[in-house]
Amino acid sequence: MARILVADDHDALRRGLALALSAAGHDVEEASNGNAALERLHESYFDVVVSDLKMGGSDGLDVLRTTKSLHPTVSVILMTAFGTVNTAVEAMKSGAFDYVQKPFEIEEMEVKIEKALELKRLRHELDYLRNEQQESYDFEKIVGHSEALQRVLAVVKKVAKSNSTVLIHGETGTGKELIAGAIHHNSLRAARNFVKVNCAALQENLLESELFGHEKGAFTGADRQRIGRFEQADGGSLFLDEIGDMSPSTQAKILRVLQEHEFERLGGTRTIRVDVRLIAATNRDLPSMVAAGTFREDLYYRLNVVSVQTPPLRERKEDILALAMSFLRRFGNELKKRLDGLEPDAQKLLLRYNWPGNIRELENAIERAALLAEHAVVTAEDLRLGDSSQSPGGSRESSVVRIPPTGIPLEDVERQALTEALKMANWVQKDAADLLSISPRVMNYKIKTLGIEMPRRRPSMLAG
Ligand SMILES: Nc1ncnc2c1ncn2[C@@H]1O[C@H](COP(=O)(O)OP(=O)(O)OP(=O)(O)O)[C@@H](O)[C@H]1O
Ligand SMILES: [Mg+2]
Repeated sequence: MARILVADDHDALRRGLALALSAAGHDVEEASNGNAALERLHESYFDVVVSDLKMGGSDGLDVLRTTKSLHPTVSVILMTAFGTVNTAVEAMKSGAFDYVQKPFEIEEMEVKIEKALELKRLRHELDYLRNEQQESYDFEKIVGHSEALQRVLAVVKKVAKSNSTVLIHGETGTGKELIAGAIHHNSLRAARNFVKVNCAALQENLLESELFGHEKGAFTGADRQRIGRFEQADGGSLFLDEIGDMSPSTQAKILRVLQEHEFERLGGTRTIRVDVRLIAATNRDLPSMVAAGTFREDLYYRLNVVSVQTPPLRERKEDILALAMSFLRRFGNELKKRLDGLEPDAQKLLLRYNWPGNIRELENAIERAALLAEHAVVTAEDLRLGDSSQSPGGSRESSVVRIPPTGIPLEDVERQALTEALKMANWVQKDAADLLSISPRVMNYKIKTLGIEMPRRRPSMLAG
């Protein structure tokens, strides 16, 4: 079954064609002129568009152009009257999939539609293969034999093929996105899109327009209509990262999509229906957020149909060396540098270190070591794992942190460091992030989780 748009201002022909295609099992919508067709194209998604070439208002070429600009992979089949074949040939050059000359037998149209659908399937398959090569979501690419990880993978394999919503909890850098990708790419939706949205990266309005799309003029700056991520993910999966960072309004909208499978674009009135599998991730403690009233309880239960906990690296130390070796091989290949392994001291250091940044931190440490290593075997020195008390080889001259004899929670140290950096950077988060060698996203995230108060207005703005 496919979704087909039939556009023709000739009522009898359009009706007849629509009926025949519906009888063949397709989901057909009709547009009685070019403008109506353009409107439908903006509002909905079709697998194939069948359009008359000559219509009042916008013609078949407009329909073709709009289809190609909104959905480049959707096939357009044009219908031409006798004598307009030349135009049809021109249209083929502009990207039409095929044309039929009126009058035609319905079978002829059905054959062309089948071919268009086949092409679409092949394209999806190709996209999928390309994706596979770029991103590694195979289970084999997920390194580690620890029981903690194997337990996670067993759940993931079991639920991948279902349509259940999955909620992935875990500290930063523990592989949440990797697991989400593995779920999608091992699901029945694998040939369709895997669309990712980071909920912490955008303010409420921008996030909603990212998710649901908007109509032209929906807000200042919305100078074009935009298709949202939910629509892009139709038939596939949508990965909502950092779901704990969503505003109450966005939470309500997501809940509705989960319950009713429908939504409206910002500034739009038409209801759009989608078939999307949701995979969500967070490193926040959602149950406490529910208790505190900052995360909707009903949404939490809807998301948490299946829950997966990615274990921190310090709880699966058995995986550290396997991961380190696999990263070392990868960076060795990328750098075209011979890297055979890790010295015993380097191995000990990796095992002793606490990995607050988990696998991402390990990956970064190995990348740095791969760059710095002067020999094929990486030394403890090459790893440069900061804290000198843990590094038997290297020692750092001076320390910027004072630890009181009574001890201090790491969080407090982080809060102090961040506040200092922010003050130095005149409260410009991006610059403060630079000072601490972290990404602006991590900075923003930490400001929120550590509860650092930003001044209402930046002093520089008051001055300016
Ligand atoms: N088991 C694993 N095997 C191989 N690589 C892994 C594994 N787990 C994570 N990685 C790699 O570690 C890095 C961090 O993983 P990922 O981005 O999935 O973590 P995350 O939990 O989403 O992090 P964040 O909370 O910061 O968004 C990625 O480069 C990923 O490929
Ligand atoms: Mg992530």
